[in-house]
Amino acid sequence: MDWGLKNRLSGIIKAQNNRALMLAIDHGYFLGPTEKLENPKKVIAPLLKYCDSLMVTRGVQRTCVPNSTDVPMVLRVSGGASIIGEDLSQEDITVSIKDAVRLNASALAMSIFVGSKYEHKSIVNLGKLVNDAEEFGIPVLAVTAVGKELGKDARYLSLACRIAAEQGAHIVKTYYCDNFEKVVESCPVPIIVAGGKKISELDALRLTYNAIKGGAVGVDMGRNIWQSEYPVAMIRAVRSIVHGNATVEQAYKLYQTLQSEKPQFKSNTPNQTKPQFKSNTPNQTKPQFKSNTPNQTKPQSKPVENKPKPTTDSSKPNKPIKSNN
Ligand code: 5RP
Repeated sequence: MDWGLKNRLSGIIKAQNNRALMLAIDHGYFLGPTEKLENPKKVIAPLLKYCDSLMVTRGVQRTCVPNSTDVPMVLRVSGGASIIGEDLSQEDITVSIKDAVRLNASALAMSIFVGSKYEHKSIVNLGKLVNDAEEFGIPVLAVTAVGKELGKDARYLSLACRIAAEQGAHIVKTYYCDNFEKVVESCPVPIIVAGGKKISELDALRLTYNAIKGGAVGVDMGRNIWQSEYPVAMIRAVRSIVHGNATVEQAYKLYQTLQSEKPQFKSNTPNQTKPQFKSNTPNQTKPQFKSNTPNQTKPQSKPVENKPKPTTDSSKPNKPIKSNN
């Protein structure tokens, strides 16, 4: 593996503990103005310093993320479908590798749709993306998107994750499930877990804890952070598990304590409680979490939260790289 690729990966999965906290805000690429993400700039501003990396589309990166940031960008490069369209699995690669380089992407992300109508295209596209990205030393994150007709069980997710890894993905994003350890065991590259549909804060923290305990490097969480009533408190609580080895109880306590801290980010659309559209096709917004009742009886001795990274953190994003064509 190239030095540059390893270096970019280490900005996303921290070398010191092999853990990752990715903040996902790419939902608009097929959902449009997702509930509580209508104004990405306002959502990102208070949360950015608490994540290790940001999963983002190029449009939002250019318009809503300060270019002075040292947080690595995981750039979504697939798209082409919408929540009201015929088939969410009909995606293609929409961002050129040159533009990804211009955006100083630390990784490229795309979805694959194993078992769906456009499975073939998405898997071939993943292989091609890895070809292009490797030329520039940029890692690829494959998102295992699950159609609503497919079960989010360990058998299916193992299949999808393994296929992604076999195509050369450097990280695979998938869902937490019963027997999650089996998914991790059969996937030769790091697995990061999506947060899924909004659930209670306690359950989202439990998901985070269980995913890591099951072998995930961390979470790529969106809705369960920015759809929380207290997004900053929530991301800090999630962080306390990912980087501080907190138990669920410790993290939840932290979440409750931090609610009173000012300034606290509140939803910019307090009255909107329903999603605007319902999917008629593979549904990436369905509940992804099934609790398998964590074993949290073992208390952790460590403090519950790590502070946001100091600016001198050696695992900071890369300097811009130059395209050679
Ligand atoms: C959208 C995505 C999201 O980034 C992913 O689902 C994580 O976000 P959430 O925690 O809200 O599920 O890939 O297609």
